[in-house]
Amino acid sequence: MIHIRNASQVVTVSGASAAPKRGKEMEQLDIIEGGGVVIEEGVIVFVGEEEEAGKYVELHGGNGKEVTVIPAEGKIVTPGLIDPHTHLVFAGSREFELNLRLQGASYMDILNAGGGILHSTLQTREADEEQLLMEAGKRLDRFLTHGVTTIEAKSGYGLRLEDELKQLRVARTLDSTHPVDVVSTFMGAHAVPAEYKHDPEAYVRSVIEDMIPVVAQAGLAEFCDVFCEEGVFTVEQSRRILQAGREQGLKPKIHADEIVPFGGAELAAEVGAVSADHLLHASEAGIRAMARSGVIAVLLPGTAFFLMAKPADARAMIAAGVPVALSTDRNPGSSPTESLPFMMNLACLTMRMTPAEVLTACTINAAHAIGRGDRIGSIEVGKQADLVLFDAPNYMYLQYHYAVNLVDTVIKKGRPVYE
Ligand code: NIG
Ligand code: FE
Repeated sequence: MIHIRNASQVVTVSGASAAPKRGKEMEQLDIIEGGGVVIEEGVIVFVGEEEEAGKYVELHGGNGKEVTVIPAEGKIVTPGLIDPHTHLVFAGSREFELNLRLQGASYMDILNAGGGILHSTLQTREADEEQLLMEAGKRLDRFLTHGVTTIEAKSGYGLRLEDELKQLRVARTLDSTHPVDVVSTFMGAHAVPAEYKHDPEAYVRSVIEDMIPVVAQAGLAEFCDVFCEEGVFTVEQSRRILQAGREQGLKPKIHADEIVPFGGAELAAEVGAVSADHLLHASEAGIRAMARSGVIAVLLPGTAFFLMAKPADARAMIAAGVPVALSTDRNPGSSPTESLPFMMNLACLTMRMTPAEVLTACTINAAHAIGRGDRIGSIEVGKQADLVLFDAPNYMYLQYHYAVNLVDTVIKKGRPVYE
């Protein structure tokens, strides 16, 4: 039994296990001032005022049960942070692109010239599983030190069956060996590989016919994602890919309206995507359609920051009733960071989300964006005990004392894994 004792605030973010929070609900954190949390066998068994927590431990902690006390005076406890959009598994890095971009080349210029995602694809194809495990494992360690207890990870740097499978196997191995849980997404439609440059349609067919069925049958992914963007995959191709994924049991996600307005938000609503991500250029009609269909907007303020672009209109989405989640988009080109807390700072300062909305976006709404809202994302009795203690007197302080790591302790499935 673990007793987290007398936190200045326990930020429960409770009451939304069945559906993500939207509109004004995103402001409701259900905070317990002077609170305690009790954990047994990896599960939260009590959350409430410290006095009551103490009584619970006295009553249930006997019979030789060892009680570990984690003093939390002056700290806050939140649900473990969840990152619902990463490209975790790849080889190498692309720091040389920064100078090109500073000289005026755009992200898409670099991709169209055979760099960008295609550069990382060459490096990833060359790497064996051991190297990928080592590189991705380091990234996962860094996520953990920043309070992240579950992430989603996409393939998409293989762009041919054997290398896509290799990436997904690495993600699965990390899921079973690393304290951070990894939820996998197949993203063979991340770019058109060089060998299909003159026949992108043939590559789309290969994704649909050769890759999706094998990935699904091997149980290597839960979701299917596509980079729906001008010059990458059209709306029509994206629709076919997502439908093919769905037929094989892979739930749709989509990189939508990242670089130009392209109808990605509308497509997300049409296919009933679990989430539409990026959305920097989502149309008003697209946002309304997402709200009607219950598509979660996964916003990536670090990508806008790193590409020196105007961020997504989070306020319009929240006003329209779209549930919003946040993510790093961790990848080697548009967002090389594992700091979800810095994304939280950016969400406040560049998208005017409130500190309360931001916490909702990185916990329960992020959990729903990866189909885990019933198990994680809030501090409630019966949920998996994934928790973070921050060295902060209250939750607002997290967004105020910015760009430093305030994580004090991370608890995963009831076990302290970082302190
Ligand atoms: O989400 N936009 C496409 N994919 C990633 C970037 C991947 C890369 O540049 O390696 C993104 O921004
Ligand atoms: Fe991405």
